[in-house]
Amino acid sequence: MSKSEESKSKMPSSSEPRSTSRRDFIDWIIKGGLLTTFAGMLFPALAYLWPVTRRGPIHDMVEVGREDEIQVWGSKKVVLGGSAFLVVRTPTEYKAFSAVCTHLGCIVYWDSDKKLIICPCHAGLFDLDGRVVSGPPPRPLVSHLVSIVDGKIFVKP
Ligand code: FES
Repeated sequence: MSKSEESKSKMPSSSEPRSTSRRDFIDWIIKGGLLTTFAGMLFPALAYLWPVTRRGPIHDMVEVGREDEIQVWGSKKVVLGGSAFLVVRTPTEYKAFSAVCTHLGCIVYWDSDKKLIICPCHAGLFDLDGRVVSGPPPRPLVSHLVSIVDGKIFVKP
């Protein structure tokens, strides 16, 4: 066989370019799948690491307002996830309680003159730690963690 005949026999047939194209396509699918899988693993890892300094103390907490919204000895009621909360500001700290009375579930309010949390339904009274002062409530109010970050008030529901 002459060299020219040999080179002709090695010439790609009409089906080889399609085979190469199909192979390239499958390579792209595999590479794309690997890239997608890698990105899918990398994104949660980066999302976990990235905001560590910003999340820190307020992870799992919900912003309920700004510090300047509540004056000293004032309060604010907020609803988080369908539950009512009462945030009270004292001269030194913020306190947050469930606003649901432990007697029969009425919504309590803060009386800044008496410095007590009052349930209007049966005159239940609670102090600034949520303890029952008088009335029929059988248990203290449930208290919640409060954190202040950059002038914003966060409560852990
Ligand atoms: S519901 Fe609050 S005292 Fe009865």
